[in-house]
Amino acid sequence: MIITLSLADSAIHSALSHNTTMITVNVDLGDRAYPIHIGPGLIDDTACFAPHITGSSIAIVTNTTVEPLYGERLRRALAPLGKKISTVVLPDGESHKQWETLNLIFDHLLLQHADRKTTLIALGGGVVGDMTGFAAACYMRGVPFIQVPTTLLAQVDSSVGGKTGINHPHGKNMIGAFYQPQAVIADTATLRTLPPRELAAGLAEVIKHGLIADAGFFAWIEANIAALNQCDDAAIIHAVRVSCEIKSRVVAADEREGGVRAILNFGHTFGHAIEAGLGYGEWLHGEAVGCGMLMAADLSQRLGLLDAAARERIVRVVAAAHLPLRAPELGEARYIDLMSVDKKAEAGAVKFILLDGVGHARITGVDDAQVRATLAASTQH
Ligand code: NAD
Ligand code: GLY
Repeated sequence: MIITLSLADSAIHSALSHNTTMITVNVDLGDRAYPIHIGPGLIDDTACFAPHITGSSIAIVTNTTVEPLYGERLRRALAPLGKKISTVVLPDGESHKQWETLNLIFDHLLLQHADRKTTLIALGGGVVGDMTGFAAACYMRGVPFIQVPTTLLAQVDSSVGGKTGINHPHGKNMIGAFYQPQAVIADTATLRTLPPRELAAGLAEVIKHGLIADAGFFAWIEANIAALNQCDDAAIIHAVRVSCEIKSRVVAADEREGGVRAILNFGHTFGHAIEAGLGYGEWLHGEAVGCGMLMAADLSQRLGLLDAAARERIVRVVAAAHLPLRAPELGEARYIDLMSVDKKAEAGAVKFILLDGVGHARITGVDDAQVRATLAASTQH
């Protein structure tokens, strides 16, 4: 399958809202459509939250790092709505994206007598967002939730599109549900407290969006990588906006990943194997995806789909974003085994997302020998 996407085809409309610094991208999913609001200071904007909270109570889900940074500010913004507000603070880290931590959310909701109209608010990165969304999908068979992503990765990717879930020791994100939020409220100013390594991890998903769907955006990233590395406001807002437009368009076309949505997993087949193989949390998700994209580019070139110059551009931009270039040495058999558990595998045959040019993704099965050659060429020695 060859998928070519260009922004010119986009049905997505970005519009300036009442807040002149706020941009809104809509995720067009019929009766489950929702806005992604993007801009600095939105976490303090009561009016941004108000239309999306209908019940009488709110449960904020966050973690030990984000709560002291932004918990009080969010509660202050929500206070004028006159709802009962409670907060559950989870341990921080990818290694906690599992059953025991998820249960802490359910314990909290039950102790607080949360009802079917209680709105969950995910305040944090992708780990908090994925777990809160899954808890919202399961609690009383579904309660509303809002994503307030505070990492670049979560603002450009994980908060959008309704994939929620937890990890299993045998596979990344293997337990989960498709469950869309009521809204995504992305305060870009929260990214100023993000450690540089986390910013780089988010840039991997920004680069991914350019590579799979928009050559012009990829060229913009190449030209603006220094500003992105410095978390420059205008550059970051542009990167979040275009990423959300691309992702929203793909999700609107294929919400439950029957086809085209799989292109969003570019770099993830190798990347998930790296994360699971090293143990969750050793490499950041975005680092594994960055390196996985290089492996997918290597494979694309081996298959004659991508030329050397295009691959070189990809390596240069991933290096400039300060992402790892060499994959960890897990052993070929372990990689193959981990990749065969990946959700893109059908009856044990792994489907790869490859590039047949910058801005053009393709979903395909690949001969084992070629995959082994990429593994040999890409791993650390
Ligand atoms: P994360 O949630 O672990 O956050 C990274 C770190 O930054 C954490 O320590 C967090 O506490 C901290 N942090 C968050 N906001 C901060 C801020 N503003 N200032 C300072 N520190 C802050 O990691 P992530 O990269 O945001 O998300 C990765 C997760 O997202 C993975 O589990 C991945 O599988 C998932 N993901 C999901 C989707 C999806 O479609 N649902 C897409 C991509 C990734
Ligand atoms: N990050 C892959 C997806 O949302 O489909």
